[in-house]
Amino acid sequence: MMSATDATWSVAMNGRATFSWDYDAGNERLLSLYRKGKDKQWDQERRIDWDVPTDPDDPLGMPDVMVPLYGSPTWAKLGPKNIAELRLHGAAWQFSQFLHGEQGALICASRLVESVPGIDAKLYAATQVVDEARHTEIFSRFLTERVGVQYPINQNLASLLDDTLTDSRWDLPYLGMQVLIEGLALAAFGLLRDMTTQPLARQILAYVMQDEARHVAFGRLALRDYYREIDARERAEREDFVIEACYRMRDRFLWTDVIVALGYERSKSPETRPNREALRMFQRALFGRIVPCVRDIGLWTDRVRAAYADIGVLDLADVDLQAAMARDEDLAEQEDRARDARVAEVGEMIARGADG
Ligand SMILES: [Fe+2]
Ligand SMILES: [Fe+2]
Repeated sequence: MMSATDATWSVAMNGRATFSWDYDAGNERLLSLYRKGKDKQWDQERRIDWDVPTDPDDPLGMPDVMVPLYGSPTWAKLGPKNIAELRLHGAAWQFSQFLHGEQGALICASRLVESVPGIDAKLYAATQVVDEARHTEIFSRFLTERVGVQYPINQNLASLLDDTLTDSRWDLPYLGMQVLIEGLALAAFGLLRDMTTQPLARQILAYVMQDEARHVAFGRLALRDYYREIDARERAEREDFVIEACYRMRDRFLWTDVIVALGYERSKSPETRPNREALRMFQRALFGRIVPCVRDIGLWTDRVRAAYADIGVLDLADVDLQAAMARDEDLAEQEDRARDARVAEVGEMIARGADG
C-alpha cells in the first residue's frame, strides 16, 4: 500500500460533488450544531498552556501496563534505558496514530462538504474541517516539541481510511469516519485523558474531545434520518461495512509497530505478551463510544448485534453517550479554570518580584 518512507499517500476518490440550491432548507438541530461549531472555535496558541513542562522520557505519563512489552519475559530482562525507550516509543506511536487519524478526519470532513446533499450539513461540515485542521496542528506540535519520534500510519487505520474514502456513497464517510474512527479515537482519548499523569497531555486531550463530541453528534443526526429511508439491501451493505470495520479494530495489533521498529520481534505476528488481559480490557473500552452510536443510528440489526456479542462488547450499547459527552465538556472547562489559575499565579509572582 505505502512504504514508511513515502512522503505522501494517495487514495482514489469516487463519487460526486453535489450542489444544493435550497438555501432555506435545514434541519434546526443541524443548524444549531453549525452555530455551536462556529462559536466554539479556539486556537491552541492561546488556549493550551505550552509553558507546562513534560517529562522528556514519559511525555504521555502512562502507567506501566500501557507500555509495550510490559510483563513479558523480555521486559523482565530489560534495563531502565530500554524501558525508557519503550515508554517513549509507546507514546510516539499512540500520538502518531492520533495525528494521522486527525488528518484522515480533515480529509473526510472536506469530502463531506462536497458530497453531502443538504446545505445545512455542508455548512456544519465546513466547521469540522477547521476543527480537524486545528487538531492535526496540535498533535503535530506535541510530537515534534515533546516526543521527538514519529511513527507512520498503522496499516489497519490506513485500510479503514481507504475503505471510507474510496466508496462513492455519500453516507460512507459519515459511517466510517464520524461513527467508527471518531468513536474509536474518542474512547482512546478519554482513556488516556483519565489515566495520564502529565498535565499537558491531559489538557490537549480534554480540549480536543470537546470538539469531537460535536462531530459525533453530527454523524448521528445525519445518519439517523437517512437510514430510516434506505431499503433492506442498502441497509445490509452498511451492516457489512460496520461489522468488517469493527473486527478490524478489534484485531489491530496494539504496539506491534513499536516492538518491530525497536527490533524486539521481527514480524508483526500476534503478540505473546502476558498482560493480554489488560490489553483486552483496553480494546473493549475502545468500543464504548461506537456501539451505542451504531444502535442510535438504526443499524441495530440481528447481524450487527451478533457480531458485537462475538467481539464481547454487546453490553456497551447501554453506555449513556449524552452523559459521557457532558463529562467531556466539564473536564475541558475544568482545564480552562486550572490554566487561568496558573496564569494568575505566575502574574502575581512577577508583580511581587517587581515590587521587591
Ligand atoms: Fe479531531
Ligand atoms: Fe473529529
